[in-house]
Amino acid sequence: MKVAIIGANGQLGSDLVEVFGKDPSFEVIPLTHKDLDVTVPETLKVLKELKPDVIINTAAYVRVDDAELYPEKAFAVNAIGALNVARVAEEIGAVNVYISTDYVFDGTKGEPYTEEDVPNPINVYGTSKLAGEIFTRNYSTRHYIIRVASLYGKAGASGKGGNFVNWVIERAKRGEELRIVDDQFMSPTHTLDVARTLKKFLELRPEFGVYHMVNKGYCSWYEFTKAIFEILGWEVDVKPIKSNELKRLARRPGFSALENKKLHTLGLRMPDWREALEEYLQEKGYIE
Ligand SMILES: NC(=O)c1ccc[n+]([C@@H]2O[C@H](COP(=O)([O-])OP(=O)(O)OC[C@H]3O[C@@H](n4cnc5c(N)ncnc54)[C@H](OP(=O)(O)O)[C@@H]3O)[C@@H](O)[C@H]2O)c1
Repeated sequence: MKVAIIGANGQLGSDLVEVFGKDPSFEVIPLTHKDLDVTVPETLKVLKELKPDVIINTAAYVRVDDAELYPEKAFAVNAIGALNVARVAEEIGAVNVYISTDYVFDGTKGEPYTEEDVPNPINVYGTSKLAGEIFTRNYSTRHYIIRVASLYGKAGASGKGGNFVNWVIERAKRGEELRIVDDQFMSPTHTLDVARTLKKFLELRPEFGVYHMVNKGYCSWYEFTKAIFEILGWEVDVKPIKSNELKRLARRPGFSALENKKLHTLGLRMPDWREALEEYLQEKGYIE
């Protein structure tokens, strides 16, 4: 199976390239921002030439607060970009995989969201990703919308200048204060687990549609931070704060944990978030 990966040197993209690349039944076509810009339809001709069986679109504008200031930039990549990719996928008969987010939900449900729940984004980023989902669904017949959440991976998010885990570790090393919100709950997810699960998922050729793909369970960002230092065995003072103390530009859902309900029906399970975090800290060489 020939798989083109858009955003190939991003946080998720680089793990996808590695995981799919190790399996000889897949031929990987890694496409970076230099090879193709999803906002510029002419640059997508490379897909028409290479004719992959599957396109995995990880390209995104991921700066949640900046998206409030520059909605046109977020929509250009996350929505119009998704439309451009969907049109090409349809033209060449490829399966189109759009990576989406837990931020399509408003966070008021109070328990993990399943694929059956109705999205209602409360910030520009989430709204632009939902628009990307709709374009994917309505312009490419053979599509998967894969919702992931709170990603961390070896490469760090290129669009965010790193990931949360590395950020708190670096701050702790410098002895800087750590004030972390304890009123926002989510499903922290290791990109390596998404890459492994997505490979198994595509091999099963499930029914087209929306799927949640996150590590099992959920926690607040405060609990997540405490768990990082527990696993590392470091004594670090972490102060719980409320999200309104941060005065960020974008509102975030208070509870955006996801449940992989449809993956379970396929027999696919993802590791618990603590287990995944431990593997990541090993992968980065923080622990043995
Ligand atoms: N990070 C999270 O916590 C999180 C949570 C939920 C969902 N997601 C979703 O997961 C996906 C992957 O996120 P990530 O953390 O891996 O982000 P990332 O590291 O920033 O990766 C995004 C990749 O897309 C590329 N890209 C950006 N604009 C592009 C464009 N116009 N055309 C082509 N490529 C472009 C970037 O390249 P350059 O850096 O060179 O521009 C980068 O390689 C995204 O769809 C995101 O919305 C992420």
